[in-house]
Amino acid sequence: MFSFDLLDAPIAGAPMAGGTSTPELTAAVSNAGGLGFYGAAYLSPEQLRETIAVIRSLTDKPFGINLFVPEEIPFDAAAFDAYRERLQPLADRLGAALPTEVPYTDDSFDGKVQVLIDERVPVASFTFGFPSAETVARLHEAGVLVAGTVTCVREAEIARDAGADALCAQGVSAGGHRATYGILDEDPEIETLPLTTGVIEATGLPVVAAGGVASADDVRALLAAGAVAAQIGTLLLRCPEAGTKQAHRDALVDPRFTETVTTRAYSGRLARGLVNAFIDEHTATAPPVYPQVNKLTGPIRKAGSSDPDVINLWAGSGFRAAQAVPAAEVVAGLRP
Ligand SMILES: Cc1cc2nc3c(=O)[nH]c(=O)nc-3n(C[C@H](O)[C@H](O)[C@H](O)COP(=O)(O)O)c2cc1C
Repeated sequence: MFSFDLLDAPIAGAPMAGGTSTPELTAAVSNAGGLGFYGAAYLSPEQLRETIAVIRSLTDKPFGINLFVPEEIPFDAAAFDAYRERLQPLADRLGAALPTEVPYTDDSFDGKVQVLIDERVPVASFTFGFPSAETVARLHEAGVLVAGTVTCVREAEIARDAGADALCAQGVSAGGHRATYGILDEDPEIETLPLTTGVIEATGLPVVAAGGVASADDVRALLAAGAVAAQIGTLLLRCPEAGTKQAHRDALVDPRFTETVTTRAYSGRLARGLVNAFIDEHTATAPPVYPQVNKLTGPIRKAGSSDPDVINLWAGSGFRAAQAVPAAEVVAGLRP
């Protein structure tokens, strides 16, 4: 089974679902001595199987695949409809057709877990919750190391009790979705360093520290606190191997975008991104209705894909450090 001791560089390349993760980026981080992850949320099981084959054609090093754990909560139709009404003028301006009904989906979770087992991937990581002990046991039988992303000690203890081999401690400054287990949960808002320390103390498991990592000094501080690796997402967004949209790449260096916040405006789940007009207008009224709001805003994000005031500009607080250089250079620059 994979072990973090095997890594040449104590760096994990974050899974970034929805188009940013590419097999090329995952393989580039692994080939540079780190552990490249691929964010497989929103893919079908068949697409995941094909993606794993492409990653394996690009690297013979260990890599990880990340899935979102589904949670079905009662659908708040009134809140969904009200938000749809609020988005309608923007959809009209962009010529985007908003769906009237969005059925719940579990994102083919069981089918994708089966693919991870069949393919015996080196590492499986989970976000938005942790799988059952039985699912973990099936992954273990296939030789898969199972990691869980957590935002507080309580979540870490749940993952440990269900058989996690390792944890990713995601601090509040991290870009993209908050990994909180419950859709309705408040963000515990713990910084990466104290979260890492607390999770190690509580569980004794290997911990990968994520959130706001912007320099080799940051990596050194997290390793000194006991982390086995630092995970970077935002620092990879401008790499040529990433699937990041051009408007997103540009916004990361545009002086007009100065800060990040967490918002439910795009998906219904909290996520951190650069403040733009969409976030300004809709954060206050966005309902915690996931994954339906994600589907609802999809046509708007597609129609406005070149407009940084429309699309989600996921980014962590260290976004100004992201360089437009190959991923191998980013990993090399972070070696402690
Ligand atoms: C564009 C983007 C997409 C992300 N998608 C995922 C994902 O699919 N799964 C996941 O566990 N984390 C995801 N994250 C969060 C990262 O795993 C990680 O916690 C975060 O990037 C670390 O903080 P940093 O962005 O400051 O480096 C995403 C982050 C970004 C920036």
